[in-house]
Amino acid sequence: MRGSLTLVLTLTCGLMAGLSLLAAPAAAAEMPEIESRSWSFDGIFGHFDRAAQQRGYQVYNEVCSGCHGLRLLTYRNLAALGYGEDDIKAFAAEYEVTDGPDDEGEMYQREALPSDHFVSPFANTQAARAANNGALPPDLSLMVKARKNGANYLYALLTGYGDAPDGGELPDGLYYNAAFPGHQIAMSAPLDDDAVEYTDGTPATVDQMASDVTTFLAWAASPEMEERKRLGLKVMLFLLVLTALLAAVKRKVWSRLH
Ligand code: HEC
Repeated sequence: MRGSLTLVLTLTCGLMAGLSLLAAPAAAAEMPEIESRSWSFDGIFGHFDRAAQQRGYQVYNEVCSGCHGLRLLTYRNLAALGYGEDDIKAFAAEYEVTDGPDDEGEMYQREALPSDHFVSPFANTQAARAANNGALPPDLSLMVKARKNGANYLYALLTGYGDAPDGGELPDGLYYNAAFPGHQIAMSAPLDDDAVEYTDGTPATVDQMASDVTTFLAWAASPEMEERKRLGLKVMLFLLVLTALLAAVKRKVWSRLH
């Protein structure tokens, strides 16, 4: 009796394992292949390239911020990119926020301050959809963490526009993108060569801007990354030294007993 139960269980497990193996390639086929690139922030010694971050902020500010918010950041956070207080005040002052109530109980508009969160381009979801053919441009604060293979995916998405293969027709308001799951995205190609004029003189090719804005958004999603990696290395070093010390102590203590 027990033998046959074991047999049935073994067969069921085998069958399930076999089925999952069969199913895996089918699921993988729906997700486009995303090419891996090397980023300054990869690996345990990874850091954000400051110049790329600043250029990426410029791309976000001049192109993406027309449709996408970045509501988890405050203007003050830009100090991590190497900007001084006056620069940050000037960045914030380009935007208006609603504050209040004042002494009369009325809400009022004022210039944004460094302590304010990034101002989103639309007042609410409905307004965002209404301005984008019904599609919702998501907030980009955590985008690099929210998508699998985040940085590589974002770069591939921004550089993945083109004509549909085999002259395929796309519904109105959708664009072919090689990296987007399903290949039909409601965001038109946001970047063209020279979409921005970089203040540091770097030629603004689509590749360059895609790579810079990806670095900026990778920082926005994990502003603590550099600190975390530095701390991780210190902890590893400490543990190594501690291990060596303990090994030496152990040898000393046991040497008396041998
Ligand atoms: C004219 C408005 C507009 C601009 C400008 C724009 N986007 Fe979008 N974006 C959209 C819309 C609309 C969607 C939703 C697309 C969909 O769901 O099909 C979207 C979606 C996205 C997504 C999510 C893709 C996914 O996997 O769901 C990312 C990432 C993105 N945009 C990044 C950017 C970046 C970076 C820039 C600046 C270089 C930018 N966008 C500029 C309208 C815009």
